[in-house]
Amino acid sequence: MLKLIHLTDLHFTPPGIGHLGCQPRRRLEAAVESINTEHGDAAWVVITGDLAALGQSAAYEELKACLAELRVPYRLCLGNGDHRARFRAVFRDVEVDDTGFVQSVVETPAGRLLLLDTLVQGVHWGELCERRLAWLSRQLEQGGAAPVFLFMHHPPFPIGIKLIDSLSLKNADRLAALLDGRNIRHMFLGHAHRPVAGSWRGIPFTILRSTVSQFALRLDSDQPLRCYESPFYAVVLIDEAEVIVHFHDYGYDGAVFQYDTVPNVVVDDETRAADFQQSMVSAASRPACAARAAAAIPRSCRRGRR
Ligand SMILES: [Fe+2]
Repeated sequence: MLKLIHLTDLHFTPPGIGHLGCQPRRRLEAAVESINTEHGDAAWVVITGDLAALGQSAAYEELKACLAELRVPYRLCLGNGDHRARFRAVFRDVEVDDTGFVQSVVETPAGRLLLLDTLVQGVHWGELCERRLAWLSRQLEQGGAAPVFLFMHHPPFPIGIKLIDSLSLKNADRLAALLDGRNIRHMFLGHAHRPVAGSWRGIPFTILRSTVSQFALRLDSDQPLRCYESPFYAVVLIDEAEVIVHFHDYGYDGAVFQYDTVPNVVVDDETRAADFQQSMVSAASRPACAARAAAAIPRSCRRGRR
């Protein structure tokens, strides 16, 4: 199966400046190390926007330096935190469409990855203007029945969290009309800083946590409530029949152990059962890259571990 890595909402800042209690560069460095070590065989890494928190040029310079360590080729989308012109001035080789939007196609053996630019400069909601929609329409036409995997920052639908829903893609109906009847296998999205999966008008989608802070799951709140749930990236496996999305908690620094130390029958003797359980704990190991990744994530953000 073709392997892709999906990351989103990096919120890079200039050197020395944090973001809501996190250090975006250290978070991405940990992800890059994890990808290089564990998933260096991936075909592509795609990052779906909010590359920078406030679109400063120095943030893009930081990001470019950090991504230079990645051993897997990468593609980037823009989000509402980004500044298109400053981004393009730093990432001079980035692929853009015929009118300068950061939209591109990646051909893979499993189908076509279409990366869309939903940024409306200066606002937090997203939109696909006529020019961007026209580009998408042409790509869908040219691709015919080939499988399509869409990557973009703004979800084109509400997810049930009021604040995020007020900042989604504004002209979702136009997008839906273009996608109707096409072979769209999956949509990979950002913006919500939450793990969300489902389908929209029959198209499966996944949204990921950010590599920095997350929105809290408070469905009825219209306040921007944040939290430090663990960041992760997605490991995506694709072939002609399936799309599998694994959510990788790359900062997890707990045990990884052999399950086959557990007896395959129910143990009636409670003392023996306790001995088996203890042996599982002693057999546990901890991968070095996970330990280094965890070091970039404050203890308060990590998953509970006794
Ligand atoms: Fe974001």
